[in-house]
Amino acid sequence: MMLAQKIQNVLRGLVQRYGPESTKRYLWNGEFSAGRWNFLDKTGDESVHFHVEKYARNGSILDLGCGPGTTSIELNREAYRFYTGVDISDVAVQKARQRAQEAGRTDHNEYCQSDILTYVPARQYDVVLYGDSIYYVPPRRIAAMLDRYSAYLTSDGVFIARMFDVSGKRRYILDIIETHFTVLEKHLHKETGACIIVFRPVGWRVTVANKSVEQTFLSSTERSSALREQLPPRTAVGQRSRFIMRVATTV
Ligand SMILES: C[S@@+](CC[C@H](N)C(=O)[O-])C[C@H]1O[C@@H](n2cnc3c(N)ncnc32)[C@H](O)[C@@H]1O
Repeated sequence: MMLAQKIQNVLRGLVQRYGPESTKRYLWNGEFSAGRWNFLDKTGDESVHFHVEKYARNGSILDLGCGPGTTSIELNREAYRFYTGVDISDVAVQKARQRAQEAGRTDHNEYCQSDILTYVPARQYDVVLYGDSIYYVPPRRIAAMLDRYSAYLTSDGVFIARMFDVSGKRRYILDIIETHFTVLEKHLHKETGACIIVFRPVGWRVTVANKSVEQTFLSSTERSSALREQLPPRTAVGQRSRFIMRVATTV
C-alpha cells in the first residue's frame, strides 16, 4: 500500500473514533454516498440473525450502528415486536428507512440519526446489538458506554456484538467485555476472524428459551482458558459451530 494511502487510513480511523460528532457524520455520509459500504446491503456468512432472534424472543432490539438497516429487514419478522436502528450517518439511516418501507416493516422498525456515544434510548430493549460498530468507539470509553446502555436492557436483556479480527488488533475489545461482563456465548470463526459474543451485566440472571442460564463466576483469565480448551483445532469457513462459553457455576 502506498504511504499516502496508509496515512489516509490512519487519519480516517482516528476521526472515526475520536472526531467530533459532526466530522464523523460528514465522513460516514461521504462514504455511504460514494457507495463504499454498498456491500453491507446483504449480510455475509457470519450473520448475527440467529442470536438476535434467539434473545429477542419476540421483544425489542436496539441496533447501534445499524448502517443501511440490513439486519432490520433480514431478521425474521416474527422474531421481534419492535426495532430501533441508530446510526451516525443520515445517508445510511435514510436508506434503512426506505428499505424498511419497501419491506413493509414501518410498523415495527424505527431509525434514528445519532452518535452511539451520546444516544439516549427512550425505552428498554431485550437485545442491544453492535454489528461491526463497536470498533468506532474509543477503547477507553467502551466499558463506560456499555455500562450506560446496561440501564436500557430489560431484566432478561443481553448485548450482542459481532466483530472481526478479535485475535489480532481487536483483541482488546474482547478483553474489555470479558473483564467487565458475564459472557453467555462466544463463537469464534477462525478462518474469517469473526466473533459473535453475547453478554450481559455481571450479577444478572437470564432465561433463554425456557432454559435458565446461571451467572458465571469465573474470572476473565479462567474463562479464556476454559474457552481455549473447548475450541476444536479447526473450524470450517461459514460453519455455524457454537462454542457455548458458559462454564458456569450455579448461583
Ligand atoms: C461496518 S458498518 C456496520 C453496519 C451494520 N451494523 C451492518 O452490520 O451492516 C458500521 C456502522 O457504524 C456506524 N457508526 C460508526 N460510528 C458510529 C457512531 N459513533 N455512532 C453511530 N453509528 C456509528 C457507521 O455509520 C456504519 O453504518
